[in-house]
Amino acid sequence: MAETKKLLKSLAGETQDVPPVWLMRQAGRYLPEYRATRAEAGDFLSLCYNSELAAEVTLQPIRRYAFDAAILFADILLLPQALGADLWFETGEGPRMSTITGPDGLKALKGKDDIHDHMAPVYETVRILSRELPSETTLIGFAGAPWTVATYMIAGRGTKDQGPAHALKAEDRATFEALIELLTDATIEYLSKQVEAGAEVIKIFDSWGGSLKGADFDKYALEPAKKIIAELKARHPGLPCIAFPREAGERYIGFAKATGADCVALDNSVDAAWAAENVQCDGCVQGNMAPSLMVTGGQELIDETKRIKEAFSKGPHIFNLGHGITPDADPENVTIMLEALRG
Ligand code: CP3
Repeated sequence: MAETKKLLKSLAGETQDVPPVWLMRQAGRYLPEYRATRAEAGDFLSLCYNSELAAEVTLQPIRRYAFDAAILFADILLLPQALGADLWFETGEGPRMSTITGPDGLKALKGKDDIHDHMAPVYETVRILSRELPSETTLIGFAGAPWTVATYMIAGRGTKDQGPAHALKAEDRATFEALIELLTDATIEYLSKQVEAGAEVIKIFDSWGGSLKGADFDKYALEPAKKIIAELKARHPGLPCIAFPREAGERYIGFAKATGADCVALDNSVDAAWAAENVQCDGCVQGNMAPSLMVTGGQELIDETKRIKEAFSKGPHIFNLGHGITPDADPENVTIMLEALRG
């Protein structure tokens, strides 16, 4: 069937004069209406598990900007919580979790099929969204990649160099690999339920994928993505999948083919002209403007939007940032970017 939604067209390999556009973290603190709804919910996690309010914040940037895609409002760290890890957010600092430092921590976790009661509110958010989104807007479901989620579970917090996860990998490889396997299998079950609830596309966020090198990148970034995508496509034929191995650098080359992803999301450390030649040659790419331009704006924002659009104009492209929009971004700059892109 020929796709009618702009985002699905690009994912099916179509080159469009004006690419579809959405922004990572488009529902977030830079929007006053998000801050108001989060205050109503109480805190960030309460917002994630309040289906009505999570759907509301997902819809806010669609109303304001008519983006071509909405991304489910949730977080990659809800999955470890569903598996039994403690999770809380320190105001102004970010996530904190119980830590997995050896076989006992791993044994205390639940099984891959035991997550669905905990995740019921998230599936309900997806159902509400698939009813309420405009007919031209594509709904994206998501999860963290096993490696990225594991880095938080092992360290108990975000880290600059993922040191604790690399250390567990070196010192207790059996525990590390069992954790990656559990997360891979649980992610399949979690994403599959999102699709059953109405997600039309799924995205796998490997935000720390770039810190894996050589054979480790193959084993813990590429292979889990390949397994997740193959199983999801077996269960849901034709499901488009976006992979985001952030800061993979040269390892972006061939990543889509090797994993079966329909699109790779590019971070802003790679040059658009280089990526057009070396990555887009295999199919759709997403990205990759620097999030800081949404803070600084001006002529540079307009020029850079046009440069990236032009660089990727000979193949399928989804315009986006190279990472999430930040809380200090000016909402007006999003409008300026959209005018530069859509004309
Ligand atoms: O709009 C969207 O993109 C959808 C919702 C979404 C959130 N997090 C909401 C969120 C998505 C897709 C994510 C993914 C996510 N979460 C990633 C992968 C992408 C990336 O940014 O690299 C990661 C690593 C996380 C884990 C996480 N969640 C961290 C490290 C933090 C703290 C840092 C921060 O930005 O505050 C969060 C919190 C978080 N997740 C917020 C939002 C809107 C901010 C919470 C708040 O409102 O205070």
